[in-house]
Amino acid sequence: MPILRPATPADIPEIVRLERLPGSQLYVGQWSEDRHRATLSSPDARYYVADSPTPGTLAAYAILRGLAEASGSLELKRLVVATPGQGLGRPILTEILALAFLTHHAHRLFLDVYDDNPRARHLYQSLGFVHEGTMRDAARRGDQYFPLHLLSILDSEYRALHNSR
Ligand SMILES: CC(C)(COP(=O)(O)OP(=O)(O)OC[C@H]1O[C@@H](n2cnc3c(N)ncnc32)[C@H](O)[C@@H]1OP(=O)(O)O)[C@@H](O)C(=O)NCCC(=O)NCCS
Repeated sequence: MPILRPATPADIPEIVRLERLPGSQLYVGQWSEDRHRATLSSPDARYYVADSPTPGTLAAYAILRGLAEASGSLELKRLVVATPGQGLGRPILTEILALAFLTHHAHRLFLDVYDDNPRARHLYQSLGFVHEGTMRDAARRGDQYFPLHLLSILDSEYRALHNSR
């Protein structure tokens, strides 16, 4: 049974709340509600959310971008769970891979991840993402620059690993 559903504009305040949690802030960008609203309404992006058992709150959200591009290269722009380390990220990322390759017919799904985010890096690589390289000084926290790892998985790799046609 799918965990994710497409987001609506009513989910934006919760999306921003999850993005600002102490466990998220270090690893993902901090967008305004307006920026999320604009991205959500763009044909280039899809937002997916997981509802939590507490009504009106989200357990996770993800953003895919690049749907309007001809390259077939989609970006997993965000993946945030409200309570990390409890096993929700794995089924959600598995569902995102299916959405990217089976629903949106991507050729490639890519993302970037901080060097000092071993949990996310482990999860991505355990589901088949390959390290493409390191982007030097690509992110900034306060007055310090940090490298980001570029990871991707191709359609053929997804189908071989996840046994789908
Ligand atoms: C990254 C994130 C989405 C993963 O979701 P999650 O629910 O925490 O992930 P899970 O619990 O399903 O799986 C985490 C995996 O990492 C492993 N892990 C945890 N801490 C680790 C560490 N320090 N080093 C290596 N692996 C680690 C776990 O053992 C588990 O692997 P396993 O399934 O092989 O046992 C979540 O932690 C999150 O939202 N973090 C904050 C925002 C963020 O970093 N987003 C990603 C930006 S690129």
